[in-house]
Amino acid sequence: MCELYILFWYFVMMQRIVVLSGAGISAESGVSTFRDNDGLWENHKVEDVATPRAWEVNKELVLDFYNQRRKQLLDVKPNKGHQALVKLEEQFNVEIITQNVDDLHERAGSSNVLHLHGELKKVRSTIDPSLVYKMEGWELKMGDNCPRGEQLRPHIVWFGEEVPNILLAAELLRSADCLIIVGTSLNVYPAAGLIHELKPNSPIYLVDPNEVNTGIAEGIRIIQAKASEGLTRLVNQLLEKNKK
Ligand code: OAD
Repeated sequence: MCELYILFWYFVMMQRIVVLSGAGISAESGVSTFRDNDGLWENHKVEDVATPRAWEVNKELVLDFYNQRRKQLLDVKPNKGHQALVKLEEQFNVEIITQNVDDLHERAGSSNVLHLHGELKKVRSTIDPSLVYKMEGWELKMGDNCPRGEQLRPHIVWFGEEVPNILLAAELLRSADCLIIVGTSLNVYPAAGLIHELKPNSPIYLVDPNEVNTGIAEGIRIIQAKASEGLTRLVNQLLEKNKK
């Protein structure tokens, strides 16, 4: 009983680290980012594949775009960056808020993952957004209907749509002791604005091999490296420091 009590307090007292991740953390797994050279938005127009209007105009094209992304997921696996964040859980309470629609954080073994922009492996009804289903294969076709007889669509937050998990994400930030930003250009709102929810003077680390516009917040500690290297280094430092 006493041991359980101690364990309970150990978890309560653990520092809370929130990670805001973007496409860059999956780049070394072979998943394309959006805005780098040869990124997805260089080869596809956002308005053709990732808006409610695109869905109205050409459902086949939208389905094909996400089918290709889903198919690609079969060939990729988590990298050292994802794995480093799992290791961080040894001593910290870690919450991952990801803009990514892949499932590489989960497959690496992270316990708490909140998807802001949806999930490739899920589909939902076009008539009732609460009807969400896990997909088995990679292909969603025209005529694949929900139990109410309406077409299923990718469970993705398109440009111009509400971000249902944003309030939950803001709540996580407000109770965090530290924020790690990795692999995001911080171009897309409301995700990029989440930084402002963090308590003043809490440390913010940013891992990215390229320059990111960090004018959005002050005092960010920049680790200019790819996710695998930068996160491994940062996680080892945080674990070591926490032991002392
Ligand atoms: P971006 O493509 O905008 O940014 C990717 C970031 O990853 C850039 O800052 C790169 O420098 C960085 N990067 C590249 N390789 C990396 C590596 N090996 N390790 C770490 N970082 C690396 O992607 P996001 O910021 O995630 O939304 O984009 C945000 C949202 O815009 C996406 O969720 C998507 C997109 O449109 C929707 O589709 C709704």
